Amino acid sequence: MLKPAELSLEEMGDLAAVIPAADPEVKVRYRAIPAFEETTRRAIIPVCEPTLSGNELKYVQQAVETNWISSAGSFIREFEARFAEACHTRYGIACANGTVALHLAIATLGLEPGDEVILPTFTMIATINAVTYCGATPVLVDNEPDYWQLDVEQVAAKITPRTKAIVPVHIYGHPVDMDPLMDLARQHGITVIEDAAESHGAEYKGRRTGGLGDAASFSFYGNKIITTGEGGMITTDNREIAQLAWNLRDHAFSSERHFWHKFVGFNYRMTNLQAAVGLAQVEQLESFVAARRRNAAEYTRRLRDIPGITTPPGAAWAKNVYWMYGILIDQEAYGMSRDELRRARSIGRPSAANVIRWPNGFAVTGSICRRPRRSRSARSSM
Ligand SMILES: Cc1ncc(COP(=O)(O)O)c(C=O)c1O
Repeated sequence: MLKPAELSLEEMGDLAAVIPAADPEVKVRYRAIPAFEETTRRAIIPVCEPTLSGNELKYVQQAVETNWISSAGSFIREFEARFAEACHTRYGIACANGTVALHLAIATLGLEPGDEVILPTFTMIATINAVTYCGATPVLVDNEPDYWQLDVEQVAAKITPRTKAIVPVHIYGHPVDMDPLMDLARQHGITVIEDAAESHGAEYKGRRTGGLGDAASFSFYGNKIITTGEGGMITTDNREIAQLAWNLRDHAFSSERHFWHKFVGFNYRMTNLQAAVGLAQVEQLESFVAARRRNAAEYTRRLRDIPGITTPPGAAWAKNVYWMYGILIDQEAYGMSRDELRRARSIGRPSAANVIRWPNGFAVTGSICRRPRRSRSARSSM
């Protein structure tokens, strides 16, 4: 039987102080979401909530009424094309979630045991898991303190003859400094797969994340900038990667004979119902991103003069989409540690870095997206 990995507090060492305590339990309540004007007075603002006020219901209804609910429906291709366009890429390959999008993208490289993939420590576990599923060895590097993103100098120091890929993660919606990273990768013949799960619509020197590396993966989980409930997408300009990913996504059925398989494939397909929601969501991407930027500007205006709080950095070459409005707390200057603040203001489903305290004692969490009037939003089922 599978045994869990257990570490004692002593074995965890310094990590014990860094890793936050368990999240509060989330109670799922089904209720109508009030219109935005009624919600502005809410004492609790969720960390994230989907906004389903566009064509979501209309498109899902079309899928249901026509019986096209599996992955063979036409919303899949429409969503893929529209999302790829939003990322300024040629191809989009829709998948069941962001983790399998990443796995699929890395799987196209045909890695072998002993091959190494460099990725940041500051990410979500899915990035490392996707590398591990491929039998390769994850090699971790830290992020730089200026913009909280992958440190390209540290990447350079970790490259070996076994390094086959680098996975930069545009953490919290701020892009990684991609030009030096791509130069480095090209010098060594290494493939770059962006983990853009958190950065829909973010820009690096005028180019969208998702189109900066050889391929990229996105997540459409309920807390992401656009959502399909569960879902993911690979974006790429590389025809070979795209065709392999489409093939591997669907059990690697051969085009020559139907029940003939040249690879070990997966079932990582997205359903037409999810793609129907996704198409409606991508139609609203620009307005969602604009709202996040407005909200972030307001948070920064209110927080920037509070001693001990560092608001999210923004590089001159970056257009952040603020998937998560994280702040840093200097315990001494602020008078409270991160964990004390978290306990004192434990509302909604805060994560370690995204609870902020307002001068008047009011607390909000960071990554909300202002909803339009009379929205038909649904609460995330995180
Ligand atoms: C950086 C990063 N990578 C990958 C994932 C995995 O996406 P999913 O939850 O859709 O599998 C997430 C999800 O939160 C993420 O934040």
